[in-house]
Amino acid sequence: MRETTDAPKPDAAAPLIEIRGLSKTFCLHVQGGTRIPVFDGIDLAVHPGECLALVGESGTGKSTLMRSIYANYRPGGGRILVRHRGRIVDMASAEPREILEVRRHSMGYVSQFLRVVPRVAAEDIVAEPLRMTGVGETEALERARAMLARLRIPERLWRLAPATFSGGEQQRVNIARGFVVGFPILLLDEPTAALDAANRRVVIELIAEAKARGSAIVGIFHDREVRDAVADRLFELNPGKEAAA
Ligand SMILES: Nc1ncnc2c1ncn2[C@@H]1O[C@H](COP(=O)(O)OP(=O)(O)OP(=O)(O)O)[C@@H](O)[C@H]1O
Ligand SMILES: [Mg+2]
Repeated sequence: MRETTDAPKPDAAAPLIEIRGLSKTFCLHVQGGTRIPVFDGIDLAVHPGECLALVGESGTGKSTLMRSIYANYRPGGGRILVRHRGRIVDMASAEPREILEVRRHSMGYVSQFLRVVPRVAAEDIVAEPLRMTGVGETEALERARAMLARLRIPERLWRLAPATFSGGEQQRVNIARGFVVGFPILLLDEPTAALDAANRRVVIELIAEAKARGSAIVGIFHDREVRDAVADRLFELNPGKEAAA
């Protein structure tokens, strides 16, 4: 069927993520209100087909920046503008319902460790984000299994819950879950930390394919080989430099 909508075409050159003046300070209420300034005045943009690698020493706020983009953390100031279904949503101020909508359709997040849910099979963990976007049961399972196979998870493990899987197997299930939908925006926190060379190559391929589809990716890659293979630009976070002000 041909589309006959008058809606304006999305601007292919416009960024999928645009961050302006972002700051974050943690306040430890249980420890007398101690304040931990992490970053201040961060500006960045990520365009379709681009992979931006966050770099900087341990503790400079790379994961905090990524969790802020996913709206796990609420920043102290600034804007996190992301493109979601043809409009712009500010993840720094969005309502919880809208945040869930963005996560369901537009933004995937591969955390460093899989959140293991007891008794849920690996193939169901991977199929879930597909079901959430409305993909039917049979197709969701087929695509989930294909992704598990691609990430070299042996078929005998697909029906098992990943609680007993090795660190690398759990990480690959997590990656499969993050890549199965083909989100326009992907956040990757150390996706290859526990992987051997062959599995790292699969992840490099998946990232390259996502970029070719036009996804915008923000990643933390301590592995130099992976970073060199996938990153188009680096964004450096500095220890306390901005935050000390
Ligand atoms: N939930 C939290 N509550 C309080 N402080 C936090 C919290 N999360 C992070 N921090 C603090 O914020 C700073 C940045 O942490 P973050 O995890 O973002 O660093 P990182 O750059 O990802 O480091 P690494 O390379 O070691 O993963 C650290 O000083 C950390 O102690
Ligand atoms: Mg981190």
